[in-house]
Amino acid sequence: MSSPERINSPERINSPERNNSPDTLLRELDAFLLCPTPAAWLDWALQNQALLLIDHANCEKKAASNAMGLMYRHVAHTDLLTKMSQLAREELLHFEQVVGLMAERGITYQRIGPSRYAAGLRDHMRTDKREQALTDSLIVGAIVEARSCERFARLAPLLDARLGKFYVSLLRSEARHYKDYLTLAAQYSDEDIHSRVQHFLTVEKQLIESVDDEFRFHSGVPGPAVRVSPHTAPV
Ligand SMILES: [Fe+2]
Ligand SMILES: [Fe+2]
Repeated sequence: MSSPERINSPERINSPERNNSPDTLLRELDAFLLCPTPAAWLDWALQNQALLLIDHANCEKKAASNAMGLMYRHVAHTDLLTKMSQLAREELLHFEQVVGLMAERGITYQRIGPSRYAAGLRDHMRTDKREQALTDSLIVGAIVEARSCERFARLAPLLDARLGKFYVSLLRSEARHYKDYLTLAAQYSDEDIHSRVQHFLTVEKQLIESVDDEFRFHSGVPGPAVRVSPHTAPV
């Protein structure tokens, strides 16, 4: 078993002596992820708020589904079953909240394709050995949760009060999800997970900072063909 303490101490996020304010969580996430969300993506999101909410709803649904997939594949791992069951319930609650917000705003929930982000991370996952596949799945889960949390925190002050407050309300649970995934990865891995975490973080940074064709919650930055005006609110 390897120790999660080596990985930028995500435990600090929920430690009682620390302040769980958005700024504190953001600093913790910035210390874990290899790059912040680019300002160009934030501008793109502000100009695509209906799409932002539709894809956010999809992300919550996929997060629940991914957790349940792990529960089906790894029935002998009791801690994983417990954490993933809690996580799936929370993600479905978030899903209901996003769908409610979309209804309030008259946004029609339509089917849209996924971004390249998850597939880009999945391409690097090992599949030959069951325990290695589990380790990589859990590390990717941690990074996706961390990036989602970071984006909620960065977007919140730029949005209208109702949506901004909702995004702040998601921060604590999403930060806990990131920590739970990373802790489970260390717990169930026979190898030290540090190098795998760094590998996936490097892949993730490339996906976040490179040009993407379509706007999605986890997309990269818009290319030159996309016209985006800069926002005026502080990041
Ligand atoms: Fe969520
Ligand atoms: Fe989550």
